Amino acid sequence: MARWFVVLGLCLLFPSAFAQSPDGAPAAAGSCVACHGAEGQGSGAFPHLAGLGEAYLRRQLDAFASGERVNAIMKPIASGLSESQRQAVAGYFSGLEMAPTEAAGGPPPDGPGRTLAVHGRWQQDLPACVQCHGPGGQGIGEDFPPLAGQPAAYLEDQLKAWRAGNRPAGPQGLMGHIAERLDDDDLKAVAAYFAALPAATAEAGDD
Ligand code: HEC
Ligand code: HEC
Repeated sequence: MARWFVVLGLCLLFPSAFAQSPDGAPAAAGSCVACHGAEGQGSGAFPHLAGLGEAYLRRQLDAFASGERVNAIMKPIASGLSESQRQAVAGYFSGLEMAPTEAAGGPPPDGPGRTLAVHGRWQQDLPACVQCHGPGGQGIGEDFPPLAGQPAAYLEDQLKAWRAGNRPAGPQGLMGHIAERLDDDDLKAVAAYFAALPAATAEAGDD
């Protein structure tokens, strides 16, 4: 009997905690793991979500639901979530640590992809990708997602989506301007470069 009073007391104190499964995941996250991995670490061609900024993840879910970010798989999934469920899953995956991965195909090769990533192309007003995506493509803060370790085909598709107007350009339209200056060879090279870098959660203390 006393036990039930304790449980009731806890429910009143932490109502949100009891809308979650025992491991702390919001119920809505259960349907994500088939494609994005049990820990949000990604699988095969599916991008990892663990450790990405909460604001970034929420923005993507809203954009899939509204159709601004065009994707046939994610549209029905995101539309099926309420606003508070989108917020909950964004917070949940953002809070998961991305376990360091091995570099996919050994260390990334020197070449045009690396040059673009690390130095940019100033004669075209193209800043280095790492200026916004962080050293090693590990991401910076809430709004600049990591690129390291995401599947190459996924990264390439995103750059193509901006060029085709199938993805909102994001804060200040930054990525729209960048993608339109990249040709097909650039896309392939820079996507392959970041995909080959090991993914890991940025330093502790990120918020
Ligand atoms: C059937 C497979 C599948 C399931 C289930 C699924 N996703 Fe996805 N998800 C994808 C694919 C494919 C993409 C890549 C879309 C693209 O290319 O734009 C994606 C992309 C995403 C992105 C964008 C990541 C980024 O870096 O911008 C987010 C956020 C996301 N999914 C969240 C979720 C959440 C949350 C759930 C569960 C509620 C979920 N997904 C369930 C297949 C799936
Ligand atoms: C001036 C800052 C800036 C620079 C430089 C920059 N990016 Fe981005 N990038 C962003 C922002 C902001 C986002 C998030 C957009 C959003 O919220 O939808 C982003 C998102 C992305 C994504 C989507 C990641 C995902 O998980 O879906 C890819 C891919 C990407 N950038 C590639 C690149 C590449 C390649 C370069 C270099 C050629 C580059 N970016 C340079 C700001 C920048």
